[in-house]
Amino acid sequence: MKLWGGRFTKETNQLVHNFNASLSFDQKFYHQDIEGSIAHVTMLAKQGIISEEDRDKIIGGLNGICADLESGTLTITAEHEDIHSFVEAVLTERIGDAGKRLHTGRSRNDQVALDMKLYTRDEIDELTVLVKGLLKELLALMEKNLDTYMPGFTHLQKAQPITLAHHAGAYFEMFDRDYSRLLDIRKRMNYCPLGSGALAGTTYPLDREYTAKLLGFDGPTLNSMDSVADRDYLIELLSALSTISMHLSRFCEEIIIWNTNEYRFVEIDDSYSTGSSIMPQKKNPDIAELIRGKTGRVYGALISILTTMKGIPLAYNKDMQEDKELTFDAIDTVKGCLALFTGMISSMSFRKDIMELSAKNGFTNATDAADYLVNHGVPFRDAHGIVGQLVLFCIEKGIALDDMALEEYKAISPVFEEDIYDAISLKTCVEKRMTIGAPGQEAMKKVIEIYKRKMEE
Ligand code: ARG
Repeated sequence: MKLWGGRFTKETNQLVHNFNASLSFDQKFYHQDIEGSIAHVTMLAKQGIISEEDRDKIIGGLNGICADLESGTLTITAEHEDIHSFVEAVLTERIGDAGKRLHTGRSRNDQVALDMKLYTRDEIDELTVLVKGLLKELLALMEKNLDTYMPGFTHLQKAQPITLAHHAGAYFEMFDRDYSRLLDIRKRMNYCPLGSGALAGTTYPLDREYTAKLLGFDGPTLNSMDSVADRDYLIELLSALSTISMHLSRFCEEIIIWNTNEYRFVEIDDSYSTGSSIMPQKKNPDIAELIRGKTGRVYGALISILTTMKGIPLAYNKDMQEDKELTFDAIDTVKGCLALFTGMISSMSFRKDIMELSAKNGFTNATDAADYLVNHGVPFRDAHGIVGQLVLFCIEKGIALDDMALEEYKAISPVFEEDIYDAISLKTCVEKRMTIGAPGQEAMKKVIEIYKRKMEE
């Protein structure tokens, strides 16, 4: 059944129908479509545009359709163009003429703008819960690992000692920004387009403030042309999802490296790993690799919608139907990745002993050895040169700075005394870094307190 058959004399070509139809994917928001229609008819009746009797029939019918779709007793069939046509057709079939009044003062343009917003808003709420779950997991990891020493890297070369808590804290910051980005988007998008009609509003005395309120919006949108043509909030969301994916991908990359036989900093739990069909020894980090790999499709969605929107004259154009599949896919992908990633890190074991050994054997305390000299009056540039000689000496002997004898130190610079060993121990190196944001325990504890308060908000 077509909503627009009146002015046509021929049947639609079957290929045209298939190409044009959106039912296969927009059925995803049947629930939101019905929710929007119920608010619409509630308002129509309040304004005296339809009778209370029709309103009750329509709402009863819509609730019945929703329940039947949920229980599976009603199935969506392909002859309908989109979910809006499907719902209206079934409604009219079930309740008769009253169903034909549902679309009074409404166009599919403002209807689809509303449905997509309602759907997206619900999904943003689910995404924020998932990001928050990950933040909680990271916070727990931080609290448990304030003295788990490990190398911090630059250029993937060991640089200075840090702790696992500090490393996890860097990701806490990233995902916390992601969290606030989602909340920002939700706030900015939360205005109701319903009542904008096809593009120029309607001649019916609609109460747009009222429908906006019924649907949990902060108010109605203020320009009917923009209302039906705006997909900025999807671009913002896909951008935020791209950033989340990028953060997950970076962490996965590290986990994949840490999980290698060469590093062995972590061991991914059996329940989150997979094997090889030919090599019996293998335990592969497939989940981390897949999350890293899926970043591509999320970026792809962002580029697609930006490109689709760039040439669209006001107001609604059918190009905009293309916003759906890619947005749905990106949302589902990121939700899946967040859930899997959180499960993977919560079940993963961290090898404290190996991390610590790696920090010790990587000259991560070389800066601190130079600082020791500076504290004993040696200019920094000279200290840098002296420690360079120490490192060279150690590389030749295959030992760490901590393993050099005092005489060997003194042979390179007489300034060194017995207290050098304490000055360059991993613990000292980390604990001396106590300005806010640094890995020292005292600094980290303050930051964790701030994070905890944030999480309770
Ligand atoms: N399926 C359409 C979409 O997703 C619904 C709006 C149709 N409006 C129209 N004027 N053809 O955009």
